[in-house]
Amino acid sequence: MCGIVGYVGNREATTIIIEGLRRLEYRGYDSAGIAVVDGGKTGIRRAVGKLRNLDKVLSEQPLAGTIGIGHTRWATHGRPSEQNAHPHEVEGITVVHNGIIENYLELRRALSAQGRKFKSETDTEIIAHLVASNVAKGLSLVPAVRATIEAIRGAFAFVIQSEHEPDKLVTAKNATPIVVGLGEGENFVASDIPACLAHTRVFVFLRDGDFAVLTRSGVEITTFDGTPVPVKPKRIDWSPVMAEKGGHKHFMHKEIYEQPTAVADTIRGRVSMEEARVHLDGVSIGDAQKLNRFIITACGTSYHAALVGKFMIESIARIPVEVDLASELRYREPVIDEQTGVLAISQSGETLDTLAAIKECRTRGATIFAICNVLESSIARECAESGGVLYTHAGPEIGVASTKAFTTQLVALYLIAIHLGRERGTLSKEDAQELLTHLREVPKQIESVLSREASIISIARRVAKARDFLYLGRGPNYPIALEGALKLKEISYIHAEGYAAGEMKHGPIALIDEKMPTIGIATAGPVYEKTVSNLEEVKARDGKLIIIATEGDARIAEIADDVFLVPKNDPLIDPIITVVPLQLIAYHIADLNGTDVDQPRNLAKSVTVE
Ligand code: M6R
Repeated sequence: MCGIVGYVGNREATTIIIEGLRRLEYRGYDSAGIAVVDGGKTGIRRAVGKLRNLDKVLSEQPLAGTIGIGHTRWATHGRPSEQNAHPHEVEGITVVHNGIIENYLELRRALSAQGRKFKSETDTEIIAHLVASNVAKGLSLVPAVRATIEAIRGAFAFVIQSEHEPDKLVTAKNATPIVVGLGEGENFVASDIPACLAHTRVFVFLRDGDFAVLTRSGVEITTFDGTPVPVKPKRIDWSPVMAEKGGHKHFMHKEIYEQPTAVADTIRGRVSMEEARVHLDGVSIGDAQKLNRFIITACGTSYHAALVGKFMIESIARIPVEVDLASELRYREPVIDEQTGVLAISQSGETLDTLAAIKECRTRGATIFAICNVLESSIARECAESGGVLYTHAGPEIGVASTKAFTTQLVALYLIAIHLGRERGTLSKEDAQELLTHLREVPKQIESVLSREASIISIARRVAKARDFLYLGRGPNYPIALEGALKLKEISYIHAEGYAAGEMKHGPIALIDEKMPTIGIATAGPVYEKTVSNLEEVKARDGKLIIIATEGDARIAEIADDVFLVPKNDPLIDPIITVVPLQLIAYHIADLNGTDVDQPRNLAKSVTVE
């Protein structure tokens, strides 16, 4: 959470930093700020709320200079206010920070006792005071920052500049992401790649414990205590256009439309039809015969993907799978041995709970591996040293509501299930070929759903003013009911519950009345009849029914108020398709209600706090 951008070069820093922050606004949008050093003086501009408020301040009070730092905030310590907005400045030292300084209260007390005065309620201001007090004792910037790191505890990625040494930026990382972008006569530092994509595709991904000094002519990396770390640049193949809206009203809408390509890209190069084998580049699941159990762990939408993955792996590879919310797994002393495989799923690869959960499992002897979308992210790195990483090729996902990351995670899980099934002999060559053929149909089938967006808009119009929704599904479509409900609530602020359709009669059916729309997923497959019976129960209580069913289902229209038909596929693949109309329904309801679809209130894209 929180986005950081820093620039040192020969161009106007403000333009580059503000453009970079715009690409990172998904990380937090409670306030934004920028500090530029020019002629040995620091100019700071800050504003509460979205970046556009800072734009306004800058248009009235511009900042010139070729070195600077910027920040977009998701509030942790201290409410969103101009005072609490970053950068924080003390005696010519300015700091932007992402993370939480755990011992900030004791440090604040100690600094106050020395007569230091605080202007904000944030933990970040501590860093500025510590560096300033070290500088006041005669240290230059780099040793002053190193000494500060010794004093602080917690998660941090920060960038610091000083008007006393106006040629350098200093950055350090512990448990919170930071990347350095390399340019010609200029260098960049940011929380995430899209911030600098317009200027460079060459990045260095700092590791925990790394400390970097950026100047116009180069970047020097050491450990916190000064041991040199070799600079290992990587070229990124994401293009700057991938981080643009491309004519869509919102990133979320664009990303929903990118799903056919993202799914195809995630399959590409991994499937050998002739041998009916899946090649999991980067992942070594070890001796598949010896693995006797999987735990899949994740948060939010990625957790819903994990729930679908349980159906896929258990059904195809016949290995028991437990699915655990990462925030629960990390604290419940899980029973794990060397025959347990732990799979983390994360779009960002930075979700703190997921990272902590897999670290805990690894300590207990598990092989850990990951499905991730972001190259070299913290979770990806942790797993690269153990079981490995299977990357989804969704490209940058900017909308806070996850869409294409989800469908590509499902594809990755299906590939893993087939791989395991083939290795363990639970899946014949012929059956694998059939499943893989079905998987390859998915991009076209998603396109077919997207081509009928108009009918989803009509459905959305009819229900946009409802205050509560119920989503029902069974089998692999039960997690899709959860996901549909999450999509709706997070972007439209409408209350929505996802339920296993068979659970209705144990309580939620009491909620049904003519005002509450129920969205049911009843596609062809082993649980079709059962699901339809549960939906009939809703109808019998005057509930309004919107049903996602399979093309050719003539019967469903008899009970539904609205039907949306999706192409037929294997029941285990169905969720990759049935989720798409639910994404669109949520999107259009939110848009009709005028909420901020890409940056819904109180949320951030990458959740790097507990
Ligand atoms: O980056 P991750 O996949 O680890 O993120 C997990 C959740 O924070 C994320 O899926 C969140 O629930 C989304 N806002 C859902 O749309």
